[in-house]
Amino acid sequence: MPVLIAIILQKDNHGGLSLHRHSSFIGLFQQPPQGGSEFLLCPVGFDPPPRSAPVSDTMDFDERASRQAEVMYLTRDLTEVRRRTIEALGLTPGMRVLDVGSGPGLFADEMAQTVGPTGCVRGVDISESMIGLARTRCADKPWVDFQIADAVSLPFEDEYFDACVSVQTLEFVADVDAALREIHRVLKPGGRLAVSDADWGATSWRCEDAALCERVMNGWLQGFAHLRLPLTLKSSIEAAGFVDVSARAIPVLNTACEPESFSFQFIRQLQGVVPARTDLTQEEVDAWASELRGLDERGAYFFSQTRYLFTADKPL
Ligand SMILES: C[S@@+](CC[C@H](N)C(=O)[O-])C[C@H]1O[C@@H](n2cnc3c(N)ncnc32)[C@H](O)[C@@H]1O
Repeated sequence: MPVLIAIILQKDNHGGLSLHRHSSFIGLFQQPPQGGSEFLLCPVGFDPPPRSAPVSDTMDFDERASRQAEVMYLTRDLTEVRRRTIEALGLTPGMRVLDVGSGPGLFADEMAQTVGPTGCVRGVDISESMIGLARTRCADKPWVDFQIADAVSLPFEDEYFDACVSVQTLEFVADVDAALREIHRVLKPGGRLAVSDADWGATSWRCEDAALCERVMNGWLQGFAHLRLPLTLKSSIEAAGFVDVSARAIPVLNTACEPESFSFQFIRQLQGVVPARTDLTQEEVDAWASELRGLDERGAYFFSQTRYLFTADKPL
């Protein structure tokens, strides 16, 4: 069975190894024994894709992208990430909690049920449409409030919160160290932090047309400030002044492309946003999506990505 492994490594900005600029994926391309056109694409590291526009600090979550993201966050895979992240905070009634990058308010809503009206939940996000969805979701809980603010400049006094969560947000923030310093500032001594992000450089997705798959993913990743943030998060959290940092992996593994799975909804998200961000047409992105659904119909679908959850404490 012919197997080609092509690896060109270089040091990235964070001291880790990444792919050389001219080969976006480290791929293991394996031809099936019966011949045919299928390839197993296992990217295990890649450089940020070339950017067609100036690097922004974030992805633009407009009204449509925010609604589709909300559906994605409600899948069973991300519900499990949320459950484990909130559990790690050890919340109790009466606590004050902050959500940095609160998105459509799913974390805030769940945390509000535990801290109750004697506590409070505050969410900040830079997307107006996300803030709108979050306010609607939590309208029945007056102890929850959201405001538009940047993670690097939090509109709260020092030592106000007992706990802070930030999920899939720091990967969009250019100055992660500044955001972590701000979170440290607004936490009380002994306050707890939970941060979770994905390693986008280690997403495994079986595709027939590997080149098209790569173009679609690179289109999505244009909006990110950091593609491999978990690799450097422990050092950044410690540098911000936190102690007792611990990390755990939360796998998102789909061997079928079902509507309740993360990758099913992620495909829809990519169909919605990638044509607007790249030179790919809607037809090309739709063809990529149909190809993945075709793999699923043949029982040959595979998607895997790891989320990393870091917890830490502000010293007493
Ligand atoms: C992938 S969503 C995650 C939402 C939410 N944390 C969740 O997991 O359900 C990322 C969110 O971070 C927000 N965001 C991106 N950059 C930000 C920044 N610099 N400050 C605050 N929020 C930011 C985005 O607008 C978006 O709502």
